Amino acid sequence: RANPPPRRTIALVGLMGVGKSSVGRRLANRLKLPFADGDVEIEAAAGMTIAEIFASMGEGEFRAGEARVMRRLLEGPPIVLATGGGAMMNAETRALLRERADTVWLRADLGVIAERVARRDTRPLLRGRDPREVLTGLAETRYPLYAEADLTVDVGEGSHGQAVDAIHREL
Ligand code: S3P
Repeated sequence: RANPPPRRTIALVGLMGVGKSSVGRRLANRLKLPFADGDVEIEAAAGMTIAEIFASMGEGEFRAGEARVMRRLLEGPPIVLATGGGAMMNAETRALLRERADTVWLRADLGVIAERVARRDTRPLLRGRDPREVLTGLAETRYPLYAEADLTVDVGEGSHGQAVDAIHREL
């Protein structure tokens, strides 16, 4: 039979806390592709945590660094890439994603995500605010962009394995 098309990078997009990193790591194992986490790469490049970057340089500098890291990762060989929740807000990143990657929007109920992110205190956008409110605001501006993804997968609570199966099946 015909050769399968060459594998492209698979980029997971979606709100913080939806499970991009855990689904991404499992998917990478399944597909025998390297895994990269955008947030971790930004922290390594800056030598600081994301919270420290926000605090010392502000969100604008963080976004500029995020776009540089996304460019480097997307211009490289195929990987599974968990993007930061805000990465798709950058027009150049969006163009690169379209050109170089198969994109998957991981989507979950906002209440479920709010529950999950409330258990950790590492995200500067949530600092001292009601997660549900923040997420509702982010969803309003970002869902139209996430919806440009090639594939949308709903992740209910504890169903990361099913999300991996769905992506594996569809892509
Ligand atoms: C952000 C999401 C975070 C991280 C930063 C900003 C956002 O990534 O990049 O805190 O703007 O939604 P995760 O989606 O991996 O939590």
